[in-house]
Order: sequence, then C-alpha cells, then structure tokens
Amino acid sequence: MTALVEMRNVTVAFGGVKALDNVSLTIGPDTGIVGIIGPNGAGKSTCLSVIAGARRPRSGTVEAMGVPLGRRTNPATMTHAGVARTFQIPRPFTQMTVRENVQVAFAATRRSSDAELQELADHLLERLGIRDQAGKLAGALPLAVRKKLEVARGMAVNPKLLLLDEVFEGLSDTEISDMVTILRGLHEDGVHLVLVEHVLRALRQLADTLIVFEKGQVIATGPVDEVLQSPEVKKAYLGKGRGDAAGSATRQGTRSEAHTTSSGTQNAVRPNKEVEEPR
Ligand SMILES: Nc1ncnc2c1ncn2[C@@H]1O[C@H](COP(=O)(O)OP(=O)(O)O)[C@@H](O)[C@H]1O
Ligand SMILES: [Mg+2]
Repeated sequence: MTALVEMRNVTVAFGGVKALDNVSLTIGPDTGIVGIIGPNGAGKSTCLSVIAGARRPRSGTVEAMGVPLGRRTNPATMTHAGVARTFQIPRPFTQMTVRENVQVAFAATRRSSDAELQELADHLLERLGIRDQAGKLAGALPLAVRKKLEVARGMAVNPKLLLLDEVFEGLSDTEISDMVTILRGLHEDGVHLVLVEHVLRALRQLADTLIVFEKGQVIATGPVDEVLQSPEVKKAYLGKGRGDAAGSATRQGTRSEAHTTSSGTQNAVRPNKEVEEPR
C-alpha cells in the first residue's frame, strides 16, 4: 500500500502570510492514527483544507488517496476519492434536525430513497451514541452532541480518510473519553484518522504519529512519545521550562482559539477563516 497523503514542498499563502511554508509530509501507510499539533496560526487547518481539496497551494505537489491534486480538484472530487473532514466550529444546517443533517450528508454520495437515507442516518447516529438526539434541531444542541454530529456528517460520505479539526475542543473529561472510544471504533473499522488537536491527553490515548507545525512549517514528525519529548518541540510549542506539557498546550488552545464550552455556548475569540470555505 502506498501513502494516503503525500505533500511535497507545499506553500499556501494568504497575501503576505504563508499559512504553509514549503511543507512536505507523508501520511500512511504505516503512520496509524495521526495527530497534528502546533500553536494557533501554525497552518494546521490549512493543511487539512489542502488535503480536502478546499485550498489550492501556490506551489508544491499533493496527492491524496491516489488523486493528484490539481487545478480542477475541489472538495467534491476529494469526497469521492474517500476524503472527509470535520470543522473546528461545527456547521450543521441549524434549522434541520440532527437526522436530517446526516441524511443530507449521505445524499451527497448516493442516490437513495428518503426511507433508506433515514435508516442509514439512524444507524450512524446509533453508532455515535446520539440516536436519541435524532429529532432535535441541530442549532440547539450541547457542544458534545454538535461535535458528534459533525463526525457523523463526515462519516456519512463513507470516507477512507477522515480529517478531524479540533474535535475534542471544549469537551469535558468524560466527553473526551467517550469521543476517544468512538474514534478508536472508526479506526478499527478501517477509517484512517488525522486529527488536528490541542487536547494532548486525547492524542496520547489515540494517536500513533504526531506531526508538529510551527509558523507554517513541519518541525517534527514521529511516534507520539518521542515527538513530545523532543527538546525542539517542547521549546517551540509547549513552552520552555513548563513541566506539564499537555496542560500548557491545552491552555494555549483554550486561550486564543475559538472558545467553546460544554454548555453549548460558543464565543469565537478570533474569526475562524475556514468557516468561509466551500464544503
Ligand atoms: N482564509 C484565510 N484568509 C487569510 N488568512 C488565513 C486564512 N486562513 C488561514 N489564514 C492564516 O493562515 C495562518 C494559518 O492559519 P490556520 O491554518 O488556520 O492555522 P491553525 O489551524 O494552525 O491555527 C494564520 O496566520 C491565519 O491567520
Ligand atoms: Mg485551526
């Protein structure tokens, strides 16, 4: 089996800002569950956008799920190639129910009757432990359910590669454990997972490989423990001299990322640019 994602010398720029600066990385076949970490603004979400076909690099080459990304590649191309992503700020159709949101996602890649779509949706919601929320409006859900709905919408296109952007953000310890179990289940079912994440506790439990971004560049790649022990990573990302690596990283995440709480209130501290992207 060849790599799932192969990026070579990829640069993405927004005006003068290089969100990705000459990035080369390989995901799969032997990287297991991959975590991508790094300070805010390091280019993590942009990296997912590139793999998902939603952001075209200024230079460099990308191949994902055997598809060389080019001028004609768009998110739909990559969905059909088996790539799905979730967004840091979940973006369901708020006036639809949870079930309808998942039905719509299923309908993106298959022609089925409403009854079939509903059955598929309910089955998936059951798998994620939110079947009892199926009839609720998606705009009025607690954060943990919104995050799961976001995962469900990603899974509905039957991806081989699922890109998750800060899926643990704002969750309580219990909710994190619950999500870890769910994601491990997806992995065991053969879905390749890439998680952009600040919650190192979750990555320690889940990830096999870590990729560390800083200022648009990859500064470390390797097995989780090895990478977290690396002096360069500690210095660049975790804060020199801080004993509790996970704690400082989590604080960093909650301070300046879009801040969310389990009660479901969402308070974007910084505008989230990717919200504007085509899905
Ligand atoms: N759509 C956009 N327009 C302009 N600048 C952007 C856009 N998306 C990201 N950026 C900038 O690119 C850099 C990397 O952003 P991002 O990939 O969101 O980082 P991360 O996910 O690691 O926090 C940041 O400086 C950010 O402000
Ligand atoms: Mg981000």
